[in-house]
Amino acid sequence: MTPLYEGKSKRLWATENPNTLRMEFKNDATAFNGEKKVSFENKGRFNNAISTLIYGMLEKQGVPTHFVREIDETNVEVKKVDILMVEVIVRNIAAGSFTKRTGIKEGHVFTQPIVEFSYKSDELGDPLINDDYIREMGLATPQDLAHLRSSALKVNDLLSEFFAKCGLKLVDFKLEYGRLGSDPSVIVLADEISPDGCRLWDLKTGEKMDKDRFRRDLGNVMEAYEEVLGRVKENLS
Ligand code: TMP
Ligand code: ASP
Repeated sequence: MTPLYEGKSKRLWATENPNTLRMEFKNDATAFNGEKKVSFENKGRFNNAISTLIYGMLEKQGVPTHFVREIDETNVEVKKVDILMVEVIVRNIAAGSFTKRTGIKEGHVFTQPIVEFSYKSDELGDPLINDDYIREMGLATPQDLAHLRSSALKVNDLLSEFFAKCGLKLVDFKLEYGRLGSDPSVIVLADEISPDGCRLWDLKTGEKMDKDRFRRDLGNVMEAYEEVLGRVKENLS
């Protein structure tokens, strides 16, 4: 069997249901647009467990997602969607590419969250784009974009509050959205929410508990992911 799609950290497989897919979390981790690549034992399992718990929490709070059910430790069933080629990034604290672009130091706390869009293109390295680019490139309508912005800010409120309970600061994160195959007028949250696509700092020590440990060679990458999973579990059951 071959997957319908293989990305850097996940594979998508067909199911017997024409409206759903099986999303498999791989152990591979990449950074800097695939330049740096390592496989971590258990990464797929940790990310699946974290993402599944968080998607459950978001659904309960009224955020529609692609999630259907957990199949096993590394697989979930998801609704078939057409992924929008716009990635939505929300930032609460300066870090990563924001610090490089602006010279503002890592750790600077914003007065209000910053919403950013990037063009989902590995070839171009997911460049930053704005509303006008998105309109002219036909990536989403202005109405869709307004929906993405308000949904991402709602997700930020829910996640910031939840991670605070877990003793973690939500510094920034990336979201992807898709149009339902069964009804393209409906846009739902898709992809995953895990330490691969969020920056999480320990509230007490400031220690990085996310993929920056891999990007910046800080060591104990899976120890941090496992700790995040433990705290998420503790606060959701
Ligand atoms: P950045 O500071 O590198 O732009 O990243 C912002 C957030 O987006 C950070 O939490 C990591 C996440 N992210 C992804 O999930 N995928 C990516 O390809 C990149 C560049 C960032
Ligand atoms: N996900 C991107 C890559 O695989 C970049 C990153 O997360 O740093 O290269």
